[in-house]
Amino acid sequence: MSGGRLVLVLQGPNLDLLGTREPERYGRDTLATLTTRLDGAAVTLGVQLRHVQSNHEGILVDAVRDAASDGAVGAVVNAAAYTHTSIALRDVLLATRLPFVEVHLSNVHAREPFRHHSLLADVALGQVTGLGAVGYELALRGLLDRLGPG
Ligand code: DQA
Repeated sequence: MSGGRLVLVLQGPNLDLLGTREPERYGRDTLATLTTRLDGAAVTLGVQLRHVQSNHEGILVDAVRDAASDGAVGAVVNAAAYTHTSIALRDVLLATRLPFVEVHLSNVHAREPFRHHSLLADVALGQVTGLGAVGYELALRGLLDRLGPG
């Protein structure tokens, strides 16, 4: 962990199963491994990450509100299935004006049609999809680049 600006890393439903969940699609890294690696990148980038994973929509909404009121400068968001359904998550990201990058491990555009639509994409700074776990680090770098020096 490092000091510096606070960035929320939000992980939606079933991402706690990473490592065993469809590994051919989502990779073999567990959420703990992914989190540790991302924390390492954050040290290099001089930011502090707050990791929140939940299977419950309201907890994710509250996490965005809490991060914003604690002064977070932005977020890396893999809302998982809620990407495609959650107006509440979209609304809280708009309400808090927390700049964020949307991440997906798999290429959602190469999957079922219901995954092609994101309720977050048009209000995100950008989207990283289909690059696996490294996508989180790319999203964090992209977020910080867009925010500029703090
Ligand atoms: C996901 C893609 C979503 O469509 C799916 O519901 C997930 C994971 C991804 O990281 O590829 O749970 O967000």
